[in-house]
Amino acid sequence: MVKHPEKQLVHGFSKLSRSEKLTWLKNQYGLSKEILDVLDTHLHRDPGLQEIYGDLSENTVSNFYLPMGLSPNFLINGDLLTLPMVVEESSVVAAASHAAKFWAAHGGFHARVSGSSKVGQVHFTWNGDPSELQRIFEVNREELLKSIKPLTRRMEQRGGGIRSMEIRPTHSALPGHYQLFATFLTANAMGANFINSVLEELGAQLKQIMEKSSAQAEFGLLMSILSNYTPESLVQCYAEAPVEVFERVDPGLSGLEFAQKFKQAVDIAHHDPYRAVTHNKGIFNGMDALVLATGNDFRAVEACGHAYASRTGTYQGLSRAEVSEGVFRLSLEVPLAVGTVGGLTGVHPVAAASLEILGNPSAEGLMQVIAAAGLATNFSAIRALVTSGIQQGHMRMHLGNILRQLQASGEESASAARYFAGRGISHAEVASYLETLRQQNPQE
Ligand code: MEV
Repeated sequence: MVKHPEKQLVHGFSKLSRSEKLTWLKNQYGLSKEILDVLDTHLHRDPGLQEIYGDLSENTVSNFYLPMGLSPNFLINGDLLTLPMVVEESSVVAAASHAAKFWAAHGGFHARVSGSSKVGQVHFTWNGDPSELQRIFEVNREELLKSIKPLTRRMEQRGGGIRSMEIRPTHSALPGHYQLFATFLTANAMGANFINSVLEELGAQLKQIMEKSSAQAEFGLLMSILSNYTPESLVQCYAEAPVEVFERVDPGLSGLEFAQKFKQAVDIAHHDPYRAVTHNKGIFNGMDALVLATGNDFRAVEACGHAYASRTGTYQGLSRAEVSEGVFRLSLEVPLAVGTVGGLTGVHPVAAASLEILGNPSAEGLMQVIAAAGLATNFSAIRALVTSGIQQGHMRMHLGNILRQLQASGEESASAARYFAGRGISHAEVASYLETLRQQNPQE
């Protein structure tokens, strides 16, 4: 990495214009004009759209493109959907599509949402008697609820609002630390802004109430924020079929043998965290692609899913496989907090288009679709792993990237595609193939 001893702190960076920011960047890091040209060429040609993308974040100087692919043939609860997927890994959309087509012929994916409750916390300290804290809270519960009415009224009209609140000690390791633990329904919104606004109001009101009600003890308001852990905003999805449907998946395996090997692989992820993380990564391959395509918060979804995977105290795979009485069943249970209104969903034109492609689902409908995408990529990954191995399909999809990296011409790429059609692919082999080809056909 090139170091720049002459580097200096910058002040008021966000106030600089785009071109001032880039000039500063160029001078500070000695960047070439070509690098700045890359940033320029990735701006949107439509200034109105560029303004939308630029305003999504701070200090924006360009756009970072990710491909959006379509994964058709997803039969979910009897409805045939095409899934928009935003992901950079070349094999994910193909993996999802293969699994979708396979399962569409065998009943498809069955998904249900068992709850969509969200959580928020007001953290505070209190050095008085805990039972006094509870008493004051209960006496003032109605007043607290009344104070947030202006914030909750509209959400209540949409079927949401605050559902419960209680005072809890935070942890035995943190004496004197408490929280107002509240649950919410947020209709079709992910609800982060709604929940945080309500919590901040509750925190301020609780502070006033506690200070007014008890002169002996001190109340210290610490922070008010939603929890991205939403184990009660939960979706279940499964696909099942008689083991005979796997008869032709691998020439060396009967349908039952394949199903049993598959189950073994899933069981390993249940007990071994090293495998579980990779197993879950394969599930999030599909889920994140949908979360991104619909403008939802993939960091929140990931953090929540991984916490849920650790809920027993050991990190485990999120899916389960069963083989019973000749029937194979693959299922997934995962918490998801996503929205189909509000947030980025209405601002990002491509996110809005994704939701249109999906038929403008409710938040619960989208949870089901995301879970099906996760189950699909999990199925494809394990199917490949216990049969041909992952590299065959993966590298086939990745061949184009390798050729591009090696600056192969159109003709060279076509020739490489023909050559590698029935062969194992690696970066080294593609490089050596191109070298031979170039020696045979030197360019003047
Ligand atoms: C690669 O993106 C995902 C896999 O590693 C998932 C898995 O191992 O289950 C293939």
